[in-house]
Amino acid sequence: NTFLPGPVLLLGAPGVGKGTQAQLLMAAFGIPQISTGDILRENIAKGTELGKTAKGLMDRGQLVPDQVVNDMVQARLTGDDVHAGYILDGFPRTLAQATWLDAHLPIFRETPQLVAINIRVDEDELLRRITGRRTCSVCKHIYNIYSHPPAKPGICDIDGSPLQHRSDDTEEAFAERMKAYESLTSPVIEHYRASNRFRAVDGEAPVEQVAQSIVAALKELRQI
Ligand code: AP5
Repeated sequence: NTFLPGPVLLLGAPGVGKGTQAQLLMAAFGIPQISTGDILRENIAKGTELGKTAKGLMDRGQLVPDQVVNDMVQARLTGDDVHAGYILDGFPRTLAQATWLDAHLPIFRETPQLVAINIRVDEDELLRRITGRRTCSVCKHIYNIYSHPPAKPGICDIDGSPLQHRSDDTEEAFAERMKAYESLTSPVIEHYRASNRFRAVDGEAPVEQVAQSIVAALKELRQI
């Protein structure tokens, strides 16, 4: 009797561990991770029009316009690999995106109701996580030079590719990302908190422990 997490929203401030936890859930349950940040960065790397629009905003720590992101998510949610379970990582990030998702999701997919997990970490720890983060340029596995370093500095343990430091992982861009989070994304957390499909988890614990708390919260939410 295998547990199926259904559609899951991972919410939380920049650097809280959404991507790290999404990669673990993806591996544990065989469901896709839909990360708006990753899709935008892929577009930047390929030099698409979307990427050109997004690059300056992202490097400054500002949000990409709602319509651009909603269209991108719509295209991704209608993908062949998206079935009854998936993880939305970094979306929705404004009330306008959340309202759009609530209205449109049943049209894209006949899936169980969304459940939302809010990961919480103190701001000082977030800055340490952001400045220490390194990401594999190929498989996108996430490392941290302080808490989760690769065996060989600058090289991915999984595929031997070089690790990258994100261009928005500076102190200046982090400050802007936190401002955007507090003014635009906090109301999204309140939006889902008001539903009975929401749990908060402590993100300060070690990665595996946070993962266990998330799975426990998902099991509880799916029993409602
Ligand atoms: P996005 O890529 O979504 O960035 P973010 O939300 O700022 O989140 P991060 O990716 O920085 O952090 P994370 O929570 O995934 O943490 P991670 O697991 O990597 O967005 C980037 C930009 O794109 C935005 O600023 C915006 O411009 C644009 N954008 C994206 N979505 C958008 C949307 N919907 N609307 C408009 N614009 C949008 O972990 C961080 C570090 O901590 C890693 O080094 C990791 O190893 C370490 N770590 C993780 N967990 C732990 C732990 N438990 N203990 C110790 N270290 C840990």
